[in-house]
Amino acid sequence: MRVGVLHGPNLDLLGTRQPDLYGTTTLAEIDSRLRDLAEELGVELDTLQSNHEGILLDWVRDGAPSLAGYVVNAAAYTHTSVALLDALVGVDRPYVEVHLTNLAARSRTRRRSLLAAHAVGVITGFGARSYELGLRALVAHVRDSTGNGGGPTGSERGG
Ligand code: DQA
Repeated sequence: MRVGVLHGPNLDLLGTRQPDLYGTTTLAEIDSRLRDLAEELGVELDTLQSNHEGILLDWVRDGAPSLAGYVVNAAAYTHTSVALLDALVGVDRPYVEVHLTNLAARSRTRRRSLLAAHAVGVITGFGARSYELGLRALVAHVRDSTGNGGGPTGSERGG
């Protein structure tokens, strides 16, 4: 199984960007932890960070044939990008939305996610660990829904 990890705009600044809010872990450290976890879980990872919406869309669309699903921190595009939502829904792959901060505790604009309603689930507020929880959740979901873990299938989850 191969999983895509999408990092949206400004997440390349993690480590120095508003550390009181986003912590001091860098994106390279997050990706490195995810690679270790992926090895433990027996999956492969493709990761991308971009500050450009179109690059993120193309990556989602081009990668889908070889990817079982996505872990998505779309950063500010979470709140604005119908195009990214359309791409994620259009490729028909499960995705788990993750955020470092607890969106429910943030400003009105940031409390609204355009992606959440179509996600398998949302993990928000655990700092860098949100990504690890998201990867575990996505892999478990895919394994369950392919009959490899005994949990509910996608259709049993309801629509
Ligand atoms: C974020 C929350 C977004 O509102 C913000 O634009 C980000 C990071 C998070 O991980 O907490 O860049 O997605």
